[in-house]
Amino acid sequence: MNWSLLCHISCFLGLLPFWIQCTSSANRCAVWHEVADCSHLKLTQIPDDLPANITVLNLTHNQLRKLPPANFTRYSQLTILDAGFNSISKLESELCQKLPLLEILNLQHNELSQLSDKTFIFCRNLTELHLRYNLIHKIQNNPFKDLKNLIKLDLSHNGLSSTKLGTQLQLENLQELLLSSNKIHVLKREELDFLGNSSLKKLELSSNQIKEFSPGCFHAIGKLFGLSLNNAQLGPSLTENLCQELSNTSIQTLSLSGTQLYRTSNTTFAGLKQTNLTVLDLSYNGLNAIGNDSFAWLPHLEYLFLEYNNIVHLSSRSFYGLFNVRYLNLRRSFTKQSNSLALLPKIDDFAFQWLTCLEHLNMDDNNFPGIKSNMFTGLTQLRYLSLSNSFTSLQTLTNKTFVSLAHSPLLMLNLTKNKISKIEMGAFSWLGHLKVLDLGINDIGQELTGQEWRGLENIVEIYLSYNKYLQLTSSSFALVPSLQQLMLRRVALKNLDSSPSPFRPLANMTILDLSNNNIANINDELLEGLDRLEILDLQHNNLARLWKQANPGGPVNFLKGLSHLHILNLESNGFDEIPAEVFKDLLQLKSINLGLNNLNILPPSIFDNQASLKSLNLQKNLITSVEKDVFGPAFRNLSNLDMRFNPFDCTCESIAWFVTWLNATHTNISELSSHYLCNTPPQYHGFPVMLFDISPCKDSAPFKLLFMINTSILLSFIFIVLFIHFEGWRISFYWNVLVHRALGFKEMDRQPEQFDYAAYIIHAYEDRDWVWENFSPMEEQDQTLRFCLEERDFQAGVLELEAIVNSIKRSRKTIFVVTQHLLKDPLCKRFKVHQAVQKAIEQNLDSIILIFLEEIPDYKLNHALCLRRGMFKSHCILNWPVQKERKNAFHHTLQVALGSRNSVH
Ligand SMILES: *[C@@H]1O[C@H](CO)[C@@H](O)[C@H](O)[C@H]1NC(C)=O
Ligand SMILES: *[C@@H]1O[C@H](CO)[C@@H](O)[C@H](O)[C@H]1NC(C)=O
Ligand SMILES: *[C@@H]1O[C@H](CO)[C@@H](O)[C@H](O)[C@H]1NC(C)=O
Ligand SMILES: *[C@@H]1O[C@H](CO)[C@@H](O)[C@H](O)[C@H]1NC(C)=O
Ligand SMILES: *[C@@H]1O[C@H](CO)[C@@H](O)[C@H](O)[C@H]1NC(C)=O
Ligand SMILES: *[C@@H]1O[C@H](CO)[C@@H](O)[C@H](O)[C@H]1NC(C)=O
Ligand SMILES: *[C@@H]1O[C@H](CO)[C@@H](O)[C@H](O)[C@H]1NC(C)=O
Ligand SMILES: *[C@@H]1O[C@H](CO)[C@@H](O)[C@H](O)[C@H]1NC(C)=O
Repeated sequence: MNWSLLCHISCFLGLLPFWIQCTSSANRCAVWHEVADCSHLKLTQIPDDLPANITVLNLTHNQLRKLPPANFTRYSQLTILDAGFNSISKLESELCQKLPLLEILNLQHNELSQLSDKTFIFCRNLTELHLRYNLIHKIQNNPFKDLKNLIKLDLSHNGLSSTKLGTQLQLENLQELLLSSNKIHVLKREELDFLGNSSLKKLELSSNQIKEFSPGCFHAIGKLFGLSLNNAQLGPSLTENLCQELSNTSIQTLSLSGTQLYRTSNTTFAGLKQTNLTVLDLSYNGLNAIGNDSFAWLPHLEYLFLEYNNIVHLSSRSFYGLFNVRYLNLRRSFTKQSNSLALLPKIDDFAFQWLTCLEHLNMDDNNFPGIKSNMFTGLTQLRYLSLSNSFTSLQTLTNKTFVSLAHSPLLMLNLTKNKISKIEMGAFSWLGHLKVLDLGINDIGQELTGQEWRGLENIVEIYLSYNKYLQLTSSSFALVPSLQQLMLRRVALKNLDSSPSPFRPLANMTILDLSNNNIANINDELLEGLDRLEILDLQHNNLARLWKQANPGGPVNFLKGLSHLHILNLESNGFDEIPAEVFKDLLQLKSINLGLNNLNILPPSIFDNQASLKSLNLQKNLITSVEKDVFGPAFRNLSNLDMRFNPFDCTCESIAWFVTWLNATHTNISELSSHYLCNTPPQYHGFPVMLFDISPCKDSAPFKLLFMINTSILLSFIFIVLFIHFEGWRISFYWNVLVHRALGFKEMDRQPEQFDYAAYIIHAYEDRDWVWENFSPMEEQDQTLRFCLEERDFQAGVLELEAIVNSIKRSRKTIFVVTQHLLKDPLCKRFKVHQAVQKAIEQNLDSIILIFLEEIPDYKLNHALCLRRGMFKSHCILNWPVQKERKNAFHHTLQVALGSRNSVH
């Protein structure tokens, strides 16, 4: 049976102690490519089942006491063995024999105390040996002599009292020897002799209580390029002594941080005259007096670190001789003790004049009284000047303040945290090369007329964030069209709605920060023309009103045309409405933050143009539903989503699509299980959204379909019933027509001459006068026209039914003269109408002409005669005009109706 299976069975059987033991050994090392990580596994044995071809084995943070060579036989391909943080107290030489390719052996934080000549005898390929934090107090004989390829040897934090690691020349390839935090008190020539053939890039002796440098100690070393003696209590005289010993060595980097060098004089570094020293670190020394010409011996120096000291006074010769220094750090270098004027640090005019190669100068966090007119004179290569929190009283920047920088090709000037309250016209006019100007975190409160920036012809970035107040005008930035980044966070911006916009001249702008200003009034011109804008920060303002439908003049679309915008931050603006089109132009948007607003319903399609969106933040809004038609486009390529703390409505309609998406997406969504909770319905309150069961939602789909089908059937039924009720006559009428035609009742269209009468005229007895008056004149006019008039053409008014039938048949058309009388005429009702309609059905719909002498509603017509206007062609329905002058027209249309061929169309 398989071991892990057994383990799990035992767990199920309740054998918990056994199970715990099982899992600890089943806690397998992570193997990835040829690297095995077995750290933090409480191992007491070397794992014997790792792939044999691993090259890196990490055994750190375990409980190993030994590294028995036999147990490594399997791993002969190892090049890196890290066994740090164990309890190893003994090392066997055969280990390296089993690991011939080993290059890095790390045994830091162990309990090794003895190293014998044999320990590393087979470790010839070793390049790094880490033995820091062991218990090695003394090195006897030559344990390292076979390490011909060793580059780095770390013996720091042991108890060594001497630098002596061997009695004969060795370690010829060593580059770094780390001996810090030991108990070395004296550097003796003979104790460094073993390095006679080495070229050390770094000799690390920091945190040793060195009291003495015996003559020639550094000359014992083949070549020494770097020396660190940090935190050794050297003081001025031992430092001077050290420098003498370093004379004529190859030393390039010397680190003397924290060595209590509280003053320097013109002799301190004299010994370094015969060197090519390029880097000198004198930080954290409590240095308070730099004697004139102290650095005169260091013409090759390029980097000088003087931060965290206590300098009181920099005279015009303090830095004499530093002709090649490119980087000078004076951060917190000067005395900070008191604010009283007498004790403020003093920098004499022309103090920097010698530093003709200086490019970087950092003077942050000091207490200088101000800038004098020749303070920076002579810095003809200065490019980066940091003066953050440097001055106690620099309230007003005038056109004189920076005059001493007129000849410096300054690119960056940092003036943050200086309590500056006013910038006068032309203050920066000396700095024509300047690209970056940081005026953030000051007290500036003024109207920006634009003259402040005069002369900044190459400026790219201006930081003005965190000041008292800034009032803008249309010309505030008119003189700096090269500006690309403008930071105006929390400056109580005033007058942002001026027209044209203060930003109108800044066509190159890519980053604009207007956050935390409580801005409520802007117009849609504000960002007009900023075609290249990529980042826009508008968080923590008061823009909600601008997007309301109810806003007078409609919503203000201040984002229009920003086609290159990548990042948009609108957090905390009180938005509760978003116009549907507001993001339409933002085709390249990658990140949008709408968090901490009051949004509930977003318009569908709002994100339709945001196909490249990577990050969407809507946390802490009032969103209840996440639906596809709103969020589908935005979620498509998203990498980060934040919708925490919304009151989700856990119903199928509101979040089923969201939950389905959550289950399939690779998007990064933090705190999904803890901060995406249902608010409604009550039974789901506080329930994690991702656990919402969507299977009932899927099941409801067929029901929905059924419901839809049923409803549509019902609706069609109702429609049909209503249709039949109101229009059924039409159907049955046309049906009759159709049936008769189909059954062949259709007679050939007879020619007019085949009929005896042009028309048979049906009218009520009471209407006979009208008929006579109107039809006989027509007959007189046209001799071929003959109507069948009952009064005239039937004998003595006798109405034989057969005669009527015959007459109707012999007439080409039948004319009904419709009046209230006709509707009441019983014969008409029963018989004549039926005959006429029958004929019409058999022959032709054109054959009936209705003449209305008065207004008769359709329903009455239908009720009395079973006729409807809708049965006949419109040209067969005529109305007798009231006005005399229309009577001609009536006769004309009657003639047209009579002349129209009896035909089915
Ligand atoms: C080394 O291997 C032997 C035999 O496989 C085993 O008994 C021993 O515990 C192992 N020692 C270590 C420290 O892994
Ligand atoms: C290392 O060994 C494992 C199996 O033990 C094998 O899958 C892998 O391909 C080997 N890698 C190389 C580079 O041979
Ligand atoms: C071994 O693991 C520790 C802790 O996980 C890590 O700090 C160390 O860098 C690793 N060693 C190597 C050689 O990767
Ligand atoms: C050092 O490694 C090379 C391969 O890089 C190998 O050929 C040589 O035998 C190794 N040296 C020793 C002393 O094992
Ligand atoms: C060092 O300064 C002292 C005065 O402080 C002066 O007498 C001496 O000549 C100077 N030495 C050198 C080498 O400049
Ligand atoms: C300093 O550098 C120069 C030229 O690079 C070289 O000739 C000289 O020997 C160096 N001096 C020392 C003490 O190494
Ligand atoms: C500096 O400003 C003053 C007035 O404030 C003016 O008189 C003077 O001409 C200006 N100097 C320069 C160099 O612009
Ligand atoms: C200016 O200095 C402050 C303080 O060191 C720093 O936070 C800020 O980033 C600097 N400004 C620029 C533009 O580098």
